[in-house]
Amino acid sequence: MATPAFAIPDDEALPAPLRLASPTEVWSGRRRLTYFGGCDYFRFASHPRVIAAANRAAREFGLGVSASRRTTGNHPLYEQLERELAAFFRVPACRLVSTGYVTNLAVVQALAGEFTHVLVDAAAHPSLHDAALLSGARRVEFRAGDAGDAIRQQRKFPAQARTVVLTDGINPTNGAAAPLAELRAGLRPETWLLVDDCHGFGAVGATGRGTAELAGLGSERLIQTGTLSKAFGAFGGVILGDHDLIRRLNRSRLFTGSTPPPLPLAAAALASLKLLASSPARLRRLQANVTVVKSALVAAGRLDAITPGPICRIVPRDAADEARLRRRLLRAGIFPSFLRYPGLPAGGAFRFAVSSEHSRGQLDALVGALVR
Ligand SMILES: Cc1ncc(COP(=O)(O)O)c(C=O)c1O
Repeated sequence: MATPAFAIPDDEALPAPLRLASPTEVWSGRRRLTYFGGCDYFRFASHPRVIAAANRAAREFGLGVSASRRTTGNHPLYEQLERELAAFFRVPACRLVSTGYVTNLAVVQALAGEFTHVLVDAAAHPSLHDAALLSGARRVEFRAGDAGDAIRQQRKFPAQARTVVLTDGINPTNGAAAPLAELRAGLRPETWLLVDDCHGFGAVGATGRGTAELAGLGSERLIQTGTLSKAFGAFGGVILGDHDLIRRLNRSRLFTGSTPPPLPLAAAALASLKLLASSPARLRRLQANVTVVKSALVAAGRLDAITPGPICRIVPRDAADEARLRRRLLRAGIFPSFLRYPGLPAGGAFRFAVSSEHSRGQLDALVGALVR
């Protein structure tokens, strides 16, 4: 079988470890630097109420359930979190699995035999490419973020094909939103969409319900997956869909044979969800901060477009530009988060994630370092 188009960088060394110094700063060696890395979009991972909820759950329930939920590992916290996530996202049902990566694999495993053709965005997250391989269906890539290309590819499928599209909601490398409305309108009506919204959940859409909300998409023939490790600041994988999907997931090998997220993290996610649902000002602040940074970078010609996700990608023009940007960022007291990651140019790129908690001064310093 042909391998997917995305490339894993060939270097084996890990970046130097970082420690948090405050919600928006890290210790990098002995320097305390403003941090725009990571994807803790509301800084819930260090929010006192979220930490308190995790501590309480650890004391009351212990760390984990030490078994899959199909055996002896079910727990009221998981069921409460699933109920509250389904209510927040206004979908019929939710299932938690160990991680965001596993969500996409679990969905295609649960739906084995349902689809004959998989259309996968060429720049999709590796977990979606793995899911496409695992599905056993005919796998066809379409050009990144290009609904027209997906529609053209589907025209070549036989009339009886049963198609599912696999795409990120928000592209993890540049914050662009997938063209969900165009896909829905142009693909055959029976086509399903599996949207990995790890970077959209909580962060985009008028009420933080993600890319489907941003696109005005209804919930029919839509499966959404995501992680609790980004906007929620916790840990675990989330699958949103209808009751039939959940029943089939319950019988999947992945769900049957693996342990759910640690209980303190489930409690933390519940606390984050409560904060998210009860404080729309925080979401407005995040989205305003994204606009401040991206509009300044677009105006200065450093960025092509104001994409809706909090992630901002700056591709250096050449090695000298990269070195200059690193120096300027460090001089401005900002950690130069430079990544080599699938979906980024082979030489890598700077990737910054704006949060609701960065101050205007921190945002201006970032823009100043990148454009002057
Ligand atoms: C788009 C996307 N999908 C899936 C994942 C995996 O989520 P997790 O880290 O919870 O496994 C990530 C990030 O890590 C991601 O960015």
